[in-house]
Amino acid sequence: MLLFTDRELVQEGELKRLIMRGVCRMFPIHAAPTIKVKNALILCDVDLENLASASMLRLALAVHRAPDSPVVFLLRDRNHHTESQARALGASDLLSGEEGINAALRQLMAKFSFLKTHQSCVPPETQLAIEDLLEPNTWNAAGNYQGLIDAGAQAVLDAVEAEGIHHWMEEVMSYDNLTYQHCLLVAGTAAAFGSSLGFSREDKVLLTTAGFAHDVGKAFIPLEILNKETALDAAEIANVRRHPMIGYAILKEHGVQNTDVLGCVRSHHELLDGSGYPAGLTGNSLPDLVKMVTICDVFSALVERRTYKQPVTSEAAYDYLTDNEQWFDQALVRAFRRSILPT
Ligand SMILES: [Fe+2]
Ligand SMILES: [Fe+2]
Repeated sequence: MLLFTDRELVQEGELKRLIMRGVCRMFPIHAAPTIKVKNALILCDVDLENLASASMLRLALAVHRAPDSPVVFLLRDRNHHTESQARALGASDLLSGEEGINAALRQLMAKFSFLKTHQSCVPPETQLAIEDLLEPNTWNAAGNYQGLIDAGAQAVLDAVEAEGIHHWMEEVMSYDNLTYQHCLLVAGTAAAFGSSLGFSREDKVLLTTAGFAHDVGKAFIPLEILNKETALDAAEIANVRRHPMIGYAILKEHGVQNTDVLGCVRSHHELLDGSGYPAGLTGNSLPDLVKMVTICDVFSALVERRTYKQPVTSEAAYDYLTDNEQWFDQALVRAFRRSILPT
């Protein structure tokens, strides 16, 4: 979400909270943003009675508004003139009055409640992609999900390479929404894994994308099962185990064509000895890319807090991977260690 404004500071209200949470990026209208976010929601908080501000906003929107971007105007002083100015500038929606604006922004805030309470290093491309991927209602819309997951994953890779995996882990571990947290953690560890192995940019993006999208099918599993604090019964386990095939099918249906990524989504719960699911594939029929995503997935699940378990340390999670050589490729596990743990 982008905010174009002519205000010096946003000091109060829900807008400030959105900015503090890193949900919304604020840009003075005279300074062009350095990022472009496809389909981003754009908020405009500009004094439309001021002609100079209105014309600068027009220029900013002309450059940075994607064809599908909704543009919402916050009209603090709503009158016939400001309303027609906003319409002329292409408003998709108008919010007016402090109360009305704050109420609408609170709804946006609730939607983004997975985010932490201070500035996030998670890039907006990634936030938008994860929101779209894990929100089942948005899947009805026709969308380019290959582009969406690629953009989200590339931004993860860039952030991990710039800031380091430990910074990334620390950041995403504070998320409230555990499924979002998990997808970002698997994507981040996958990015670090590919980087430490000296993969080409293309292969790093592929691995990160697979990690980013691997659990998308969980968006279609009831939250009361995913967040259940006690042991799952047999029917619930069977329900959760549908998520790899659901993810595979829905991504394919929505334009994801990369067979390597689709294979990881479908097979990330397969294990070397054939005891995994959904197909019970064994090690020799599993590509390395799938085995790598599985390692990142299991490691991440162990170090995360869940409703039903406490987190373990990175060392303990690594020990679990080495203790279970019947399930995980040990050469890859050793390589993974070098990307995550200090030597
Ligand atoms: Fe999974
Ligand atoms: Fe997972």
